[in-house]
Amino acid sequence: MTKRLDGKVALVTGGARGIGAAICAAFVAEGAKVAVADLLAKDAEETAAALGESAMAVAMDVTDLDSIAAGVAKVEEAFGGIDILVNNAGVFTMSTIEEITHASYRQQYDVNVGGTIFTAQAVVPGMKKRGGGCIINFSSQAGRRGEANVLLYCSTKAAVISITQSMALELAKDGIRVNAIAPGVIDTPMWDVVDGLFAKYENRPKGEKKRLVGEAVPLGYMGSPEEIAAPCVFLASEDARYVTAQTLNVDGGNWMS
Ligand SMILES: NC(=O)c1ccc[n+]([C@@H]2O[C@H](COP(=O)([O-])OP(=O)(O)OC[C@H]3O[C@@H](n4cnc5c(N)ncnc54)[C@H](O)[C@@H]3O)[C@@H](O)[C@H]2O)c1
Repeated sequence: MTKRLDGKVALVTGGARGIGAAICAAFVAEGAKVAVADLLAKDAEETAAALGESAMAVAMDVTDLDSIAAGVAKVEEAFGGIDILVNNAGVFTMSTIEEITHASYRQQYDVNVGGTIFTAQAVVPGMKKRGGGCIINFSSQAGRRGEANVLLYCSTKAAVISITQSMALELAKDGIRVNAIAPGVIDTPMWDVVDGLFAKYENRPKGEKKRLVGEAVPLGYMGSPEEIAAPCVFLASEDARYVTAQTLNVDGGNWMS
């Protein structure tokens, strides 16, 4: 039976764990070859090994242009090219306006914004040579609305929505579609960090914020990484051939647009 991503090669940044790992598994299940790219090289190796011969691990820091270039070259050599890029690597932080430092600003923007731009920049020439491709960026419901003490993260995720639109309009003529996913609250290792920071800034017991945000979702629960991977497969597939420049909310009904 034909699978939706048969013959495709995907590079997934932040693929070692959480949403990225679920995307890698879903892509392999749909017939793709997948490069699991992550700062956590050992975790990337383990995630790739569990997926078998269709997956390879790539140690990559999306804030480092040389690291991106080396990683992309490694994948193109091993798998013959890249058809799909998922810019999933991301980091979260919280701080008051007074606490923001140039270093904390740089960390959030270098990963969430710079990583998205420069990893795309590295794969686009190869996609153009192949006659097309697909890029999926990771925004967030946090990119749709600001939040107290989350200025840096929210603004990076709002930037991803705009970056997606500009990339899509520039690359449409090359047959490269560019979309983004804006997840709501998804149960991953990132939420350990998020919950701990909300406990500090909202003076709550640990675990309370995570429970409350899950209960507040119209569908009634926190999403799973697999529930983000499924629409990612759709966006990467031929089924979405007429979809570009969009940011798709996958959040159980939290945001409507
Ligand atoms: N979990 C949520 O509720 C949620 C909600 C909205 C958006 N998102 C976004 O979804 C994406 C995945 O989130 P997650 O919850 O799976 O996070 P996670 O922290 O569980 O996983 C993120 C992965 O990115 C990797 N990474 C971080 N910095 C990197 C770098 N410089 N280079 C390469 N890899 C790097 C990490 O090592 C990790 O494996 C992120 O962009 C996040 O902002 C998550």
